[in-house]
Amino acid sequence: MLKNITENLHKPVLLAETLQLLNPQADEIFVDATLGLGGHSEAILADFANTRIIGIDQDSEAIELAKERLERFGKRIEVFQANFSEMKQVLGDVKVDGVLADLGVSSLQFDSETRGFSFRFDAPLDMRMDADADTETAAELLATLSEFEIARIIYEYGEEKFSRRIARRIVERRMRGEPIKTTGELAELVQKSVRRGKKDKIHPATRTFQALRIAVNRELEILEDFIRDAINVLKKDGRFVVITFHSLEDRIVKQTLQKLAGKCFCPPRLPQCVCGAVKEIEILTRKPLVPSEQETDENPRARSAKLRACRKLN
Ligand SMILES: C[S@@+](CC[C@H](N)C(=O)[O-])C[C@H]1O[C@@H](n2cnc3c(N)ncnc32)[C@H](O)[C@@H]1O
Repeated sequence: MLKNITENLHKPVLLAETLQLLNPQADEIFVDATLGLGGHSEAILADFANTRIIGIDQDSEAIELAKERLERFGKRIEVFQANFSEMKQVLGDVKVDGVLADLGVSSLQFDSETRGFSFRFDAPLDMRMDADADTETAAELLATLSEFEIARIIYEYGEEKFSRRIARRIVERRMRGEPIKTTGELAELVQKSVRRGKKDKIHPATRTFQALRIAVNRELEILEDFIRDAINVLKKDGRFVVITFHSLEDRIVKQTLQKLAGKCFCPPRLPQCVCGAVKEIEILTRKPLVPSEQETDENPRARSAKLRACRKLN
């Protein structure tokens, strides 16, 4: 069962590029901040002697499967169920040689028939990666946020041009006492609200579902602080590798790394720098690495991946 899940559900994205830039050496210690099903971690532990990994994921289901998959590495892997915004608390005083973050949703989550990440299965509209958390589900957000805020989320995070129409219909439904509770109800509402061109390849609800998932899990809000924490927990010459799947996510990574690499973001009219730019890292990827055609043919979910990496200077 485990073998099927890990082999079929999640092929580690940009694996060769990740290993090249994380550049593990014997006896080094790494954080895998998005352990998922442990694909990247397994490759590090299997291919690089005496490396150790501290694996973090907020999803208890993923944690259980990853533990089983990585059991054979014994004490070389330690696993924690936590949000990566809590990485510094998890590590305490420990400094590490590398941090890996493969952001976004896992296949385990996306292919779940019950957790509400996908319109392919009719399920309660939940979408929380940490299903044990006391945080709002997607259905709860749609039941409480203003029409304006719902439209903003769908437009900004989903780049959906019919966002206002979708938000209006969501709010009209809840005013009739029929709030959206399931993936099926939302997918149908979106389908009726948007006009699609003949060339559109994706399902009409794709953008709206993606936007809601990002909002439910606060994926963009916590990213800049996490990147700063990642650099903070590195030893001198430690490496940080991050894989994103969304243009807004990549923009935050790019700009945060540029700031940490000493780029001044002051308005050009200021006579001198006041943003306090200090060079803490060297960027190792001038442009983000993207999957080869072969990788996207074999694993279409790698399609939008972008990898950026840096090295801590001191
Ligand atoms: C794309 S998957 C990682 C897959 C993994 N690299 C592998 O090869 O199996 C992303 C994982 O990150 C986790 N995740 C996303 N955001 C997180 C956060 N803020 N804190 C902890 N885990 C997070 C998700 O629960 C998911 O399991």
